[in-house]
Amino acid sequence: MVTRESWRDDAARWNARYAEGAPTFEPHPFVAEAFAAGFPEGPVLELACGRSGSALALAERGRRVLAVDVSDVALRQLHGEARRRGLADRVWCVRADLRTFALPPEAFGFVLATLFWDPAVFRAARDAVAPGGLLGWEALTGNGDAESRRFRVSPGELSASLGARWEVLREDDGDDHGPRRHETCRLLARAARE
Ligand SMILES: C[S@@+](CC[C@H](N)C(=O)[O-])C[C@H]1O[C@@H](n2cnc3c(N)ncnc32)[C@H](O)[C@@H]1O
Repeated sequence: MVTRESWRDDAARWNARYAEGAPTFEPHPFVAEAFAAGFPEGPVLELACGRSGSALALAERGRRVLAVDVSDVALRQLHGEARRRGLADRVWCVRADLRTFALPPEAFGFVLATLFWDPAVFRAARDAVAPGGLLGWEALTGNGDAESRRFRVSPGELSASLGARWEVLREDDGDDHGPRRHETCRLLARAARE
């Protein structure tokens, strides 16, 4: 059960981290890959966005982005940078606990989440992708202590959680993705056009 305390604890923990160093606003490689693959017009959804360079890069390419996170500190930093770049009308920042945030079905041309894992949120995100749209997901893998294991996926788990209407464009299992020094699984997949 998600208690009021647990999301407040998450928010406090992440707020403390985001209050520490200056953001770089680097977009995730998913953004370039998604534009190269192509995805439908309409809004983009970024879950657990943090102070996302991806949301900014998508908005700079003309897309409207709904950016959701539990950390108000991260969202303030993201919104401030969006305003500074003249993108505030295209980056909508929403503070919410994703475990209780209802997503509309088939509403977004591209849904992404990086360095976040929750199986129920993944399923809701998958169902929020419009026909012909893209899902980009990156989650930690590898070993961790018992507490951190629930935030990690095993190799193949992302594509196995997709269901029938999906084509996997690429899936990396357990690669160490450069400067961020995280061992992660990455999935980019396209929903059937119907
Ligand atoms: C490891 S950070 C990843 C941030 C960003 N996606 C990135 O790749 O740099 C995890 C993010 O998930 C957010 N988060 C954690 N639990 C959450 C929840 N229950 N609902 C919404 N956001 C949550 C945190 O605030 C944080 O911004």
